[in-house]
Amino acid sequence: MELRRQLEYHGHRYYVLDDPEISDADYDALLNELRDIEAAYPGLLTPGSPTQRVGGKPLDKFEPVKHLQPMLSLANARNPDELRAWEARVRRLSGREDIEYVTEPKIDGLAISLVYENGVFVRGATRGDGETGEDVTQNLKTIKSIPLRINDGPALLEVRGEIYLPLEAFARLNEQRAAAGEPTFANPRNSAAGSIRQLDPALAAARPLQMWSYSVGAVDGISFERQYDSLQWLRERGFRVNRDIAVHSGTEDVIAACRAWEERREQLDYDIDGVVVKVNDLALQRELGVVGREPRGAIAWKFPPTTATTTLTKVAWNVGRTGHMIPFAILEPVQVSGVTVKLATLHNEEDLHKKDLRDGDEVIVLRAGDVIPQVLAPTSKAQRNPDRAPPAEPPAECPACGTPTVKPENGVWTICPNRAGCPGQVLQHVKHFVGAMDIDGLGEQNVIRFLHEGLIEDVADLYDLTVERLTELDRFGETSASNLVRNIAASKEQPFFRVLYGLGIAGIGWVNARALAEQFGSIDALAEATVDQIVETPGIGEVLAAQIVETLADERTQELISRLRARGLRMELSVEEAVPVEGPLVGKTFVITGTLPNLSREEAASRIEEAGGKVTGSLSKNTDYLLLGAEPGSKLAKAQKLGTEIIDEDAFLALLP
Ligand code: IVH
Repeated sequence: MELRRQLEYHGHRYYVLDDPEISDADYDALLNELRDIEAAYPGLLTPGSPTQRVGGKPLDKFEPVKHLQPMLSLANARNPDELRAWEARVRRLSGREDIEYVTEPKIDGLAISLVYENGVFVRGATRGDGETGEDVTQNLKTIKSIPLRINDGPALLEVRGEIYLPLEAFARLNEQRAAAGEPTFANPRNSAAGSIRQLDPALAAARPLQMWSYSVGAVDGISFERQYDSLQWLRERGFRVNRDIAVHSGTEDVIAACRAWEERREQLDYDIDGVVVKVNDLALQRELGVVGREPRGAIAWKFPPTTATTTLTKVAWNVGRTGHMIPFAILEPVQVSGVTVKLATLHNEEDLHKKDLRDGDEVIVLRAGDVIPQVLAPTSKAQRNPDRAPPAEPPAECPACGTPTVKPENGVWTICPNRAGCPGQVLQHVKHFVGAMDIDGLGEQNVIRFLHEGLIEDVADLYDLTVERLTELDRFGETSASNLVRNIAASKEQPFFRVLYGLGIAGIGWVNARALAEQFGSIDALAEATVDQIVETPGIGEVLAAQIVETLADERTQELISRLRARGLRMELSVEEAVPVEGPLVGKTFVITGTLPNLSREEAASRIEEAGGKVTGSLSKNTDYLLLGAEPGSKLAKAQKLGTEIIDEDAFLALLP
């Protein structure tokens, strides 16, 4: 049926390729049309129809399913030598030297088997004990990246893959659960497992599970020679197969690919815990056989884990640069991705309460990349502990200056009201300023020292430091002193938005500082602005605007600004940063999509900016023009829906002077 085919096509573009052609509303309209037809002519309804994704009834339990072929495990390689040893054995056992390998990300999710009969998805099961799993067909049908029907499907096809919850969805789900007083999931893997094992498919459907397909299991009516070909074939049939899977002909090449995945790990929106290396030749894979439950023809290169379980000895508190009490975790030392972690951030009071972390809890700690380790959640064991400590509360006195803390009415945070005199706040502010202004060679220890020795009292004093003054300090050499003085002086050239950010005003983070700098052009214009004018800035709401007005009107802020100005810091956009206030496109916002016939996107964007206009990445009701090129993608449909004016390159050039 044509309608069904259309829905399958658009569903695939949206859920598998992430590149829709039609709007969500149009998709829903098509789906409703099909529902109506199927309701009128039940004979047309088939199990593979796109309408059959949701609608199953809640189950009492999952039925056991015997797998057509056992679902095996993988042996691990923890270092290059173990991988080389595995590869040498493959060569020895096969008597061949010319062996190709495929590297695939090892998704940290849940193994799933999908069975298609004559192209129709009939059954899906969890791994279970490898021989028998649980029938989770209904829930799998709600995962839009799993095709319900494939073209030219053989008599039997079993597709294996991993389902997972994208990291963002995992974080959001945990937030919701914490807000609802439910236990949070320890990691994305558990959240995927919990979601697929929901007896009510409507609940499973509400979790945006995803699937990567990684191999073909049992088949009848088709055969594949190579692993890579089978993946290609699956991709062509609408399965989600990772684009970065690659073929290699030597071990060193394989090792390089494993390391490359390790580097990319943090940029992905799914968790990977290693790389799976497989012999490409499927006949050779079979020949190599299985030892125990592990095939000899594949191995998992394991990354060090990014999460670990340990005890939260105590929730301790610091004061932040704007006076907030900031909780942090003192932990029983634990190894996480190769580093010993003893302290972790708890972000803020609200986050602490949401996660419901208590002294003495067993907790899950995450350390990813260079970011500061964080405590994700108490384990469920900790949550069940009847002798749990009471929830951690912010201290009654500021840990830095001893001033009694206050919780302002309507405020979420407890603060130290001693803004000017609290050494803790000053220290945090100087540290923040050093980061904002990108001053090299001024670490925390030196900041503490300068404050302690009275060399500085606030950030403006940094600009009065001299080599003579610094070398009077114990163990402060001439070279480091002159380097530091030079770096501090160089920071005067930093753009205005960094200075604005460096002021450390609550609510003016990096992004807002940029937006405000662009909107107002100078600190004076911003200081004179009203709340109504400030909310015109993209991303800034009323509460924040009121806070900004109040802080800028404060005498101490004004004094700091004038001291920084006197030392030569930029208090307005420089010529290079400034957006022209004249030009035919002032106040006009553009989005560019597709390939333009003559201009590159960068050229088009700079022409727009030169004429006073703005270019943004996504369409909204504030977009004035969609500049349309060939092969546009989903933005065209969105612009049509929003009624945005759509222009081609010629019409665009006509707008320019
Ligand atoms: S191949 C031979 N490929 O890792 C059995 N598995 O430790 C291995 N996994 O249970 C299947 N990504 O859940 C394979 N690209 C990938 C994988 C992958 C994740 C999981 C799978 C399996 C476990 C084996």
